[in-house]
Amino acid sequence: MKLGLIGYPISHSLSPWIHQRFIEESGRIGAYELYELELQHFSDEVAAFKELGLDGFNVTVPYKQKIIPYLDRIDREAEIIGAVNTVKNENGCWTGYNTDGKGFVRSIRASFPTMDLKRIRVLVLGAGGAAKGIVHALMSEGVDRLAIANRTLQTASDLIEAFHTNHSQMKAMTLADAEQTLGEYDLIVQTTSVGMKPAVDDQIISLNGLKKGAVVSDIVYQPLQTAFLTDARTKGARIHHGHEMLVYQAAYAFEIWTGVRPDPGLLINELKVKLS
Ligand code: ATR
Repeated sequence: MKLGLIGYPISHSLSPWIHQRFIEESGRIGAYELYELELQHFSDEVAAFKELGLDGFNVTVPYKQKIIPYLDRIDREAEIIGAVNTVKNENGCWTGYNTDGKGFVRSIRASFPTMDLKRIRVLVLGAGGAAKGIVHALMSEGVDRLAIANRTLQTASDLIEAFHTNHSQMKAMTLADAEQTLGEYDLIVQTTSVGMKPAVDDQIISLNGLKKGAVVSDIVYQPLQTAFLTDARTKGARIHHGHEMLVYQAAYAFEIWTGVRPDPGLLINELKVKLS
């Protein structure tokens, strides 16, 4: 089978390593390759790429929205989120999906199986594309007490407005508000790029007053141990690393392409070593 990734730049991507393993474990013969498409000639590049007839591919920055007009169909979740990271090809018909949110939820469920998503209070830090996917997936799994804190309050308010239902208790707040009310939350999810190299020491909010037993998650995986997670660990929190979501969203993409759900457990441990 032929799989791949489109984006720009993508030479640093871990996806080939992850998917090559899934291909081998599933007993298939195939390859997952990188296709760096140029932004200036995106239309022509996509047309030429389509000729290659890949069975499926992932989409990363800066094309998660730009790919949408080239699809024949779009899955409902991806449509609501407004971004596609996975495309399946069936006889030349391209269907777009977004596996980030569900990948996040599956990785949380795997690491914290006793956590009852219907009962917990969740704080999401950031209101960009990644936050949108995660908030949508959490709500689909029954989370209805959720706050979104963002540097730009309006963006958080817009996200709440888009996803709010009659049953949910959702609120938008500033990062300062989040620090003040931190003790109310059972799960805190850091979805911004703060903490990524090179500004590795940055930390989006301080974690004083964290609730006992709270889970703190950071979707950044390079570095694996962000300043935010280091602080969380010091304060006694249970930790959820970004590479866990990375592997689970890839596993879900592989499942969409093949119908086979890989077991991410082994790979997560290996990736941890690789990134440490
Ligand atoms: P992604 O698709 O990866 O989520 P994005 O859509 O550009 O990326 O969203 C970036 C998120 O990170 C936003 O919530 C952004 O806050 P603003 O809406 O205020 O821009 C947040 N963010 C980025 N850099 C930040 C920083 N230095 N401090 C706080 N928040 C930051």
